[in-house]
Amino acid sequence: MAHKFCTSTLVFVLTFVGLVLADIPGIERQASIDELEHFLVDNGGYNSVPFASAVSPCAKYSGFAAGGSNQGEQTSAQWVRFAFHDFVTADLSAGTGGLDASLGFEGARDENKGIFVDDTMQFISQTFSALLSTADQVTLAVVLAVAGCGGNARAIPLRVGRTDATQAGPSGVPGPFTPLEPTLAQFAKAGFSATETIALVSCGHSLGRIHFSNFPDIVDNSAVSATNLNGGIGFDSTPAGLDPAGMNEYLSGTNGRGGPLVTSPNVDARSDFRLFNSDGNQTIRDLSVNFGRTCSAVFTKMLNTVPGSVSLSAPVTPQTWKVTNIIMHISNGGSVRVEGLFRYLWTTVAPPQKVTYTTISPRGTSATHRSNSVIGTGTSLFGNTTYWDFARAIDSPGTTTLSFEGATYPINDMIFILPTQSRVEPDKLLIRIKAAAATSITAGIGDMEATLYVPVSQAGSKAFKITTVKLPLKKFTVAGNYTLYEGKINVANVKNVVAKVVLGSSESQSVKTSLFKQGA
Ligand code: HEM
Ligand SMILES: *[C@@H]1O[C@H](CO)[C@@H](O)[C@H](O)[C@H]1NC(C)=O
Ligand SMILES: *[C@@H]1O[C@H](CO)[C@@H](O)[C@H](O)[C@H]1NC(C)=O
Ligand SMILES: *[C@@H]1O[C@H](CO)[C@@H](O)[C@H](O)[C@H]1NC(C)=O
Repeated sequence: MAHKFCTSTLVFVLTFVGLVLADIPGIERQASIDELEHFLVDNGGYNSVPFASAVSPCAKYSGFAAGGSNQGEQTSAQWVRFAFHDFVTADLSAGTGGLDASLGFEGARDENKGIFVDDTMQFISQTFSALLSTADQVTLAVVLAVAGCGGNARAIPLRVGRTDATQAGPSGVPGPFTPLEPTLAQFAKAGFSATETIALVSCGHSLGRIHFSNFPDIVDNSAVSATNLNGGIGFDSTPAGLDPAGMNEYLSGTNGRGGPLVTSPNVDARSDFRLFNSDGNQTIRDLSVNFGRTCSAVFTKMLNTVPGSVSLSAPVTPQTWKVTNIIMHISNGGSVRVEGLFRYLWTTVAPPQKVTYTTISPRGTSATHRSNSVIGTGTSLFGNTTYWDFARAIDSPGTTTLSFEGATYPINDMIFILPTQSRVEPDKLLIRIKAAAATSITAGIGDMEATLYVPVSQAGSKAFKITTVKLPLKKFTVAGNYTLYEGKINVANVKNVVAKVVLGSSESQSVKTSLFKQGA
């Protein structure tokens, strides 16, 4: 009896710890890496994600405030400021805080004044899925903002693996009236030396504005106009350029001389001056020379400041060749087909007419196949993209690999979802799912189970979270060497849902339900 009690207490403790950071079991790391690469690279045209376009040009406002482009806001600057306010309350030695989107729950705090918190979280809720956490998307947002504002996207390597906080974290973001010592102490707690702190602040304040609506003690209402409703005043003469203009203006006393946090008549509000001056202006002088490299380094360090429980992936780099949107189909007779898209990212070597590929099973490598002709093209920060679609019967069960242009992609034809035979009915919030398993692995095992990873809104933050919905799938027919299963369920939201199926110890690759048939 006592034994049992101890066990359940332990389970309770572990569950409680697990509540603080929501991990998403069952999502393959590679699927998250592929998704981040997609968001980073596919910026315009065919199969693109409307993320980079929100901060290009850099001055653009893509948030949700009623005044739109007259609001006096800049999305690129909001995203960079979001990362700062989110990360700076980290306690490195305790292994808590950092880039975890806890800021989404903290927008009402005095230290987080402004619409940047809700704007950023609401924007990311549109692209959020189980494949890429909100916190990972914040890091993507910073890199895309840097790129949109004239910086180098390649200089800040992105990694996946951050988990999203499910509640607010501690406060402690330094503000304009915070004295130098506690400001440096807060950054030190988050792992930043004084020099790194000065660099990070001045790199950040190369973008965007200080607003009358947030800081009426520092900016007066003469800044407000019909096209600047929140009354924003730039820190430097180029608020839509990530450049050393602000540092040069500070050192030379020209233009805004470094901006309101240097020159405010209220000496207590001169937080930028206190920092910049604290080492005799040395860091600022160095920065005005090495701006790009230094800012990339401190931004990277900021984005990779994560809770101790997080293990980040290796850097995710743009892929020259990629296969994506892979789906499997099975005929009544049990013949399996694989379909998908090849993507080529290029700058100088023009795309071929078609892509050649093979599939590999224990019985050997297939004959060389050719894709269909080009199906679409797109634009990218890293070149141009060209897409081809393909569909091919594979030797099943047993095919393990798709091989093309020196790249390979794993195929699991032992258990897989059937997107062309599955369906999303948005008006009924209904998902109908069909899946197949090689009959050889079904012996003695009961029903198949599907997991749907459904993004839902949550109290306290405009960011979404994932709820997992499990549903049993029933056998409904046999097709050749496969047994087919089906089920349906109502969910809270059908957008950006990811699905996978499990049978005993076998599990399918995860699939976006956007690849299912859509509509009744
Ligand atoms: C002691 C440290 C800091 C203080 C006291 C401070 C203070 C401020 C203040 C008062 C604003 C005006 C916000 C508004 O009215 O909308 C602001 C804006 C901004 N801050 Fe900082 N900041 C600090 C550090 C940083 C850091 C480290 C970064 C980024 C790496 C950063 C990035 C930004 C950006 C991009 C904006 C413009 C936001 C916009 O235009 O919406 N700041 N900061
Ligand atoms: C640093 O630069 C500012 C602005 O040019 C100037 O006011 C200040 O005196 C300088 N500090 C030192 C220690 O030289
Ligand atoms: C490549 O992309 C650029 C924009 O990034 C576009 O202007 C150009 O037309 C594209 N070239 C081709 C061959 O598609
Ligand atoms: C079923 O498997 C057998 C042997 O594993 C194979 O010979 C046969 O072609 C398969 N049937 C189908 C429809 O693929």
